[in-house]
Amino acid sequence: MTTLNYDYFYNWVQANLNIRLDAYKEKQLNRRIQTVMRQSGALTLEEYSGLIHQDESVKKQFLDYITINVTEFFRNKDLFEKFEELLITDLSKKFDSISIWSAACSIGAEPYSLAMIIDRHSLPLKKSIVATDIDETILKRAKTGKYRENELKNVSLIDRSHYFTQEDGYYAVDSRIKEMVQFRKHDLVLDSFESGLHVIVCRNVTIYFKNEVKEDIYRRMSDALVTGGLLFTGATETIYQPEQYGLKKVSSFIYEKFV
Ligand SMILES: C[S@@+](CC[C@H](N)C(=O)[O-])C[C@H]1O[C@@H](n2cnc3c(N)ncnc32)[C@H](O)[C@@H]1O
Repeated sequence: MTTLNYDYFYNWVQANLNIRLDAYKEKQLNRRIQTVMRQSGALTLEEYSGLIHQDESVKKQFLDYITINVTEFFRNKDLFEKFEELLITDLSKKFDSISIWSAACSIGAEPYSLAMIIDRHSLPLKKSIVATDIDETILKRAKTGKYRENELKNVSLIDRSHYFTQEDGYYAVDSRIKEMVQFRKHDLVLDSFESGLHVIVCRNVTIYFKNEVKEDIYRRMSDALVTGGLLFTGATETIYQPEQYGLKKVSSFIYEKFV
């Protein structure tokens, strides 16, 4: 079996698709690249890059496969409930209005969950919730605000009737909730972060990054938060020694900026 030339492929992807594959954990990523390359029929990465270049559908399949878009509304319900409680009892008391960034938001279930929390408690938003992802295809889907039943398993019946309408087998998010969210493309590795944020929700994406990249992201996220702001991470994304970033743990997977 021929050895695959990952160095060539990483450089090709960076030059042609502007994605830094070297930021991701190598073993896991290379396994995925190999699988998706085989599905295209290519035998080498040189051949596969040629196919990505020529054929939009191969390119789309590659991007879809490496970005891993799994998500759902109120993912890890118990953690979302704790987060909701902190927003009401703590954050909204400290600030007149809040700005929220949902980073690596996939198909939008996460920022729309946040919008429902904000709406439920009539919390004052400074501006729209900014929801970003590296993957333009899923952002298009996020903007449509249409979901299947399995993505709503954590949405209560009351919330379903309040915030969704059923259309042709889909649940469509109400326009009032949709209007609270602004989607845009953003790469956590390459792009700069906004500042003056009160909440950053960044879940189930840093697990894919190498340690040094993850550390850089947490550092920049802490810089982007105001003192007293919150960072909400995924249920496997404990930040070790959060103090090194000026963060302190206030609950499982929720950190407050203290400097
Ligand atoms: C597993 S999903 C997480 C979705 C949501 N945050 C959640 O927890 O349910 C990971 C998302 O990270 C996005 N992603 C991967 N690399 C990224 C990068 N460098 N910058 C921004 N988003 C990225 C993927 O496109 C994907 O939508």
